[in-house]
Amino acid sequence: MIVLGIDTSCDDTSIAVYDSSKNTVLSNIVSSQHQFHLPFGGVVPEIAARKHAENIDIVFEEALKVAGIKVKDIELITVTRAPGLLPALLVGLTFGKGIAYCLNIPFKGVHHIEAHVFSPFIGSTPPEVFLALVVSGGHTLLILVEGLGKYRVIGKTLDDAVGEAYDKVAKMLGLGYPGGPIIDRIFKSYSGEYLELPKPKVPGFNYSFSGLKTAVRRLVEKGYPAEQIAASFQKTAIEYLVGKLKKALKEFNVKDIAVSGGVSANSLLREKLLELQEEGYRVHLPKMEYTSDNGAMVAYVGFKRFLLEGEDPLTLNAVARLGL
Ligand code: KG4
Ligand code: ZN
Repeated sequence: MIVLGIDTSCDDTSIAVYDSSKNTVLSNIVSSQHQFHLPFGGVVPEIAARKHAENIDIVFEEALKVAGIKVKDIELITVTRAPGLLPALLVGLTFGKGIAYCLNIPFKGVHHIEAHVFSPFIGSTPPEVFLALVVSGGHTLLILVEGLGKYRVIGKTLDDAVGEAYDKVAKMLGLGYPGGPIIDRIFKSYSGEYLELPKPKVPGFNYSFSGLKTAVRRLVEKGYPAEQIAASFQKTAIEYLVGKLKKALKEFNVKDIAVSGGVSANSLLREKLLELQEEGYRVHLPKMEYTSDNGAMVAYVGFKRFLLEGEDPLTLNAVARLGL
């Protein structure tokens, strides 16, 4: 099947074309809105929706062109319907429904987190059981996956998501937005000493990042150099993330790990995961282009869901918050 995957859940307008018979992504176009949100230090929902409305048609044309297909070749429409910024989600959802209606082809709504969970397996096949760590701007989740739709959330953040903490710390340090890639770049070139930051004490496999953020604020007020604070923050945040992941792997006796979401692009996180690989775990990471929001992961999971349970009605609505 030729599958169109659409994601407008946050600040990227993305459309991909996926060929399910070859398990291949034919195109994956992402139009980033970062520059428009930059002055606000975070994503403004109404601006996001307006920019999606402006760009979605262009992104669509480009996705078809790169894939070398025509509109009439599309056989299934898949769109992120939850969770995300409601006005932003509605743009992609309505666009997708329009195409499905005109071509009289099936339409499938997709859960954005489920799409991230399976993003490391685009083009391959997921293991039957794996532990998924989803780390993005909106989510920090540890999920025991026992097949499509069989999820046990064993840990989540009790306050800020890790990507959100990155963005807030970068804002405090006046480094720009989004903060993750900027702090990661600073970390890579930093060779000085690290400052002591507290690892939040939260029971079980849950996470908390707000205390870390407050500790960073104190260091800023004390006048430490921005590079030193940024590098120290990354070291603490990533060690904290991986520490809990290791505990969960032991507790649930799982050998396969899939890490996804924007923060899975992080160099230190990838380094620490390689160490786990040396310890005998199988680590699955998305290709760089599938770490942040993208249409390919939506098409990949949307197709799987379509096979499992069929199409959705065109009355399907967008939902800002929805559990897995
Ligand atoms: O998955 P994503 O593109 O969007 C959401 O669904 O949230 O994740 C975006 C987040 C941002 O908070 C950004 O700062 C973070 O991912 N990020 C990173 C890196 N690249 C992006 N965080 C740490 N290190 C990176 N290299
Ligand atoms: Zn995302």
